[in-house]
Amino acid sequence: MTDELLQRFPGARGEWARFDGPAGTQMVDTAIQAMSAWSSGGNNANGGGFFDAAIATDEIVKSTRATMRRFLNAPTDTFVFGPNTTTLAFAFTRAVARGLSSTDRIVGTKLEHDSNVSTWASIARDVGAEHVLANFDPETGRLEPSEIEQNLTDHTKWVTVTGSSNLIGTMPDLEVITKLAHDAGAKVFVDAVALVPHRTVDIAAIGCDAIATSAYKWYGPHAAALWVEPELLESLSPYKVRPASNEGPKKFETGTPNYEGLAGMQAAAEFMMEQGVEAMAAYETATFTPLLEGLLAIPEVTVYGPRDTVDRAPTVSFNIAGHHPDDVAKALATHKIATWSGDSYAVEVAQHLGIASTGAAVRAGVVRYVTPKEVERLLEAVADIAAGIQATRH
Ligand SMILES: Cc1ncc(COP(=O)(O)O)c(C=O)c1O
Repeated sequence: MTDELLQRFPGARGEWARFDGPAGTQMVDTAIQAMSAWSSGGNNANGGGFFDAAIATDEIVKSTRATMRRFLNAPTDTFVFGPNTTTLAFAFTRAVARGLSSTDRIVGTKLEHDSNVSTWASIARDVGAEHVLANFDPETGRLEPSEIEQNLTDHTKWVTVTGSSNLIGTMPDLEVITKLAHDAGAKVFVDAVALVPHRTVDIAAIGCDAIATSAYKWYGPHAAALWVEPELLESLSPYKVRPASNEGPKKFETGTPNYEGLAGMQAAAEFMMEQGVEAMAAYETATFTPLLEGLLAIPEVTVYGPRDTVDRAPTVSFNIAGHHPDDVAKALATHKIATWSGDSYAVEVAQHLGIASTGAAVRAGVVRYVTPKEVERLLEAVADIAAGIQATRH
């Protein structure tokens, strides 16, 4: 059976098996074309002007906000655009800090990518507030909402939680966590960077106050979007230059937006909606299941995080006994298999799993263009390394 969708990812057509999707995906053809068309069409200008190209430039921002609203079922189109989630999160938290005091508490989790830890830790340090991290179960990789609940106090102003761990895939229950936080009087920031590529995200249903996603994780360009609830957005004073707009998401968009990136983001979001995220997720789960089961069946391999495919991204981290993760990734690269090694910026996850000081783990992620054959190749290569058939030091 041919999989026609594979043809839509020109960057994934080579010999390499690309298990590096959690770090960034290959772009879909329509996103590549949209960026090129924007750049060559003559409308590339700046916003806020009176000539046609300037008006079209405002329009690409407006229509991308509208597309993101449909894609993520957001109650409003108040999406802030920026270069990546980390940069947006630093801008957002710095603005939040202006309303915090030393008696306040911020509750995060140990499942986070560091962009959802250091950002909040920095402002907590600046204002003297408390920043605590809820535990996940290192055996199962699961984060129970009760772990967050235990950390909520009358002084908790923010709960900051990932939609999916970028290292071990776990997807916490965002709706339950948001409700618990709101009941305690706290607002909720969701890092949805590793969730949006793999699940239909419904911001209205989650009910969070802010949520971030990076388009390069779902076949788009390097650009990111942060949805902020309108009243909250109105109340925040970001660091900005005086002439820039004080209205809506624009007040967070310091400098000139990446218009071609927005054209690409819009096309990638359209692609996700056309395909249906659930249909893509079904393909991914079918492709990922043999990978997970195959790794679990190799005695020398330790798999971290959930041992099943329920409420988890198709991303797995593992180690091979006696081999440093970097050496395994290097050995896999000699087979033209792309994986990542290290903590992938999930600093707290690696520490909580007790693997931070030993190089953390090898990470392999399935995305829509990874094939079952490539999974077989990866499993064979891992088995060879485990059996000592392939040396891992170069
Ligand atoms: C879960 C998660 N959050 C945040 C980030 C940071 O995203 P960005 O590179 O867009 O800043 C990443 C990047 O890998 C991620 O996987």
